Amino acid sequence: MIDRELLIVVLAAGKGTRMKSDVAKVLHPIAGLSMLGHVLALAGSLEAARLAVVIGPGMDAVRDKVAALAPGATVHVQADQLGTGDAVQAARERIAGHRGDVLVLYGDTPLLRRETLTRMRAALGAGAGVAVLGFHAADPTGYGRLITTGQDGDLVAIREHNDASDAEREVGFCNSGVLGFDGAHLPALLDAIGNDNAKGEYYLTDTVAIARARGLTAVALVCDESEVLGINDRAQLAEAEAIYQARARTAAMAGGASMVAPETVFLCHDTVLGRDVSIEPNVFFGPGVRLGDGVTIRAYSHLEGTTVQPGAVIGPFARLRPGAEIGPGARIGNFVEVKQSSLAEGAKVNHLTYIGDTTIGAGANVGAGTITCNYDGFSKHRTEIGAGAFIGSNSALVAPVRIGAGAYVGSGSVISKNVAPEALALTRAKQTEREGWAGRYREVKLRAKRENGE
Ligand code: UD1
Ligand code: MG
Repeated sequence: MIDRELLIVVLAAGKGTRMKSDVAKVLHPIAGLSMLGHVLALAGSLEAARLAVVIGPGMDAVRDKVAALAPGATVHVQADQLGTGDAVQAARERIAGHRGDVLVLYGDTPLLRRETLTRMRAALGAGAGVAVLGFHAADPTGYGRLITTGQDGDLVAIREHNDASDAEREVGFCNSGVLGFDGAHLPALLDAIGNDNAKGEYYLTDTVAIARARGLTAVALVCDESEVLGINDRAQLAEAEAIYQARARTAAMAGGASMVAPETVFLCHDTVLGRDVSIEPNVFFGPGVRLGDGVTIRAYSHLEGTTVQPGAVIGPFARLRPGAEIGPGARIGNFVEVKQSSLAEGAKVNHLTYIGDTTIGAGANVGAGTITCNYDGFSKHRTEIGAGAFIGSNSALVAPVRIGAGAYVGSGSVISKNVAPEALALTRAKQTEREGWAGRYREVKLRAKRENGE
């Protein structure tokens, strides 16, 4: 527990041109949550007392997202993109008077871990005026270089790529962009930043040399390059997704879920898995999925907005859409789609079926090819299938309609009226039979062929 208050400033004013998108860069998703959402969740996990997000002019969608995900956060508009130092200045009113730690994060760097930021805070707690999160870059081109001295690796300055000498460009230790400050000194450091550099920008990174000149200490911490991957284009977005998925799968397995081919399972940021869950290959989880203990998800299933109770078996090739509530030990088989419906304990819907806006009682059995006709072209209607009912294959249940507990529906029926409990309902035409008909039919056909000389 750290007793210094924390202010987190998230920079998100960059235009993100390279995404070639009508959507603001930081709103593009990783595992179903926007990059900004990941950064705000991280800030939330650190219990920041203050949270400030810097956006560009006209980024109303980003403003709305902040309001939805972090209602306590303030949003600040940076009028012109004059550099990272200017961006932090945009949140000046929030920084002024803050006594405690300040962490600056980027909205387009969504893979940072909580533990890493806790290390940054520990460095500030140990007396650093500025703490910089660095990484050893596979290719340092374009990054600010961390210039250190001596054995203890004291940080002297950050040199931006365009301003660096040839010797400085040899340095592979790079600035991730994550900086920490002692809040008491930050306003003065920001005020001292100039723009006399290759880009004519106000570099936040200049705070390191300025702090040193004022007798403050600056330190560099190291993290893995993958953790500070910044997203600029769609290829990097996919790379970040892959890193996130690898982490999420490892965490799921550590939590007691089995995956025979984890690299083919796609988890969402909020997927909740019980113990002894078993997930076969090629399964996709959208937002809002909770699986109870001992649930099996068989291959090629797609789930979103659904809760599956312990012991249920889903798939292969099943689709659970939002509002699907699957009871304990229930079965959803191949080519079955379920939406806004609940199945009670032990109910079975095993083959080629659409279940929408339906309540299915315990132990009911829905035969192959059953369709709940829930939509009349204008509104949705509900179907109720009572406990222990049996719906014969290839039936259409035209909602609103109720099938009583224990009732039977004969195969191939179109049911548009309620069926009483324990009754049998049939709507198909009566079967007729003509004895010996097939032989007479073949004889007539063969005679016609002979007469035509075929
Ligand atoms: C920055 C760092 C560099 C570091 C690199 C890591 C500076 C001067 N340089 O360089 O040392 O190695 O990140 O990726 O800080 N932003 C604003 N307003 C601005 C400018 C930027 O909000 O006026 C935001 C961007 O949206 C982005 C972040 O700040 O999220 C970084 O900006 P970017 O232009 O990518 O900085 P780099 O030149 O890459
Ligand atoms: Mg950048």
